[in-house]
Amino acid sequence: MPNAFITGTSSGLGRALAERLLQQGWAVYGVSRRGCDLPGICDTTCDLTDTNAVPAALDALLAGVERLDLVVLNAGVVGQIRLLAETPLPDAKQVMDVNLWANKTVMDRLHARGRPVDQLVMISSGAAVLGNKGWGAYALSKAALNMLAKLYAHELPHTHITALAPGIIDTAMMDYLCDEADADAFPALKRLQDARGSERMPDPATAAARVLDVLPRLRERPSGSFVDIREILEPEAYAQLYAGR
Ligand SMILES: NC(=O)c1ccc[n+]([C@@H]2O[C@H](COP(=O)([O-])OP(=O)(O)OC[C@H]3O[C@@H](n4cnc5c(N)ncnc54)[C@H](OP(=O)(O)O)[C@@H]3O)[C@@H](O)[C@H]2O)c1
Repeated sequence: MPNAFITGTSSGLGRALAERLLQQGWAVYGVSRRGCDLPGICDTTCDLTDTNAVPAALDALLAGVERLDLVVLNAGVVGQIRLLAETPLPDAKQVMDVNLWANKTVMDRLHARGRPVDQLVMISSGAAVLGNKGWGAYALSKAALNMLAKLYAHELPHTHITALAPGIIDTAMMDYLCDEADADAFPALKRLQDARGSERMPDPATAAARVLDVLPRLRERPSGSFVDIREILEPEAYAQLYAGR
């Protein structure tokens, strides 16, 4: 039976990835702070920024697992959309801790046991390269995540690594971006608000299916690459999105 380890399985994309893989007969191991309600998942609760707790939590979760076919480092937070100059450093560091450094902690523990990992996807974002006003800490953290993927690709030649922007998805993250953040001050939010409720912003189940479908195509790129899923699945929308940057 193939197996996968996914972070951030309590909601959104991570939960939907877990659900789809379980339906396809995979063994799925998950972690988040709130926990995952899906029947059949092997799940643990842990704050991935707690560097003291993560190693023991992962060792217990993955005890007896000798290899992993797929790892998706998906857990992430968006932080607040606001001017970088008005972002307190502790807030920016918190976003960086979840979106970047927690992934280093997980990567190092996964590989400390010499457990082979076949394919590993770090969930990045278009924000990593678009540089839109107001996306400060989140954009910085995802840009750094792209480099994390590239650097680990040198160190883990037997694991195929991709930093993947999954496109926009209607998850809890969008509740904040579409309902609370200030689209007049930060115009990039307008595109998200316009897309919500349309097929341009799929639900988590649809987005998870898209991510899983492109996995073989990610392997055609060099390990460590950043790939935006829209480049593969919606080249016109991708060209339009990135033209303005
Ligand atoms: N939604 C989009 O349009 C979009 C676009 C591009 C990229 N992404 C990326 O996709 C990924 C998933 O986001 P989503 O949209 O599915 O948002 P979401 O529904 O808010 O899910 C985020 C997941 O991350 C987990 N998480 C956050 N902080 C954590 C921590 N300290 N320790 C452990 N788990 C933590 C959450 O679990 P707990 O709260 O239970 O800990 C939750 O399961 C993120 O990396 C995000 O940046 C999303």
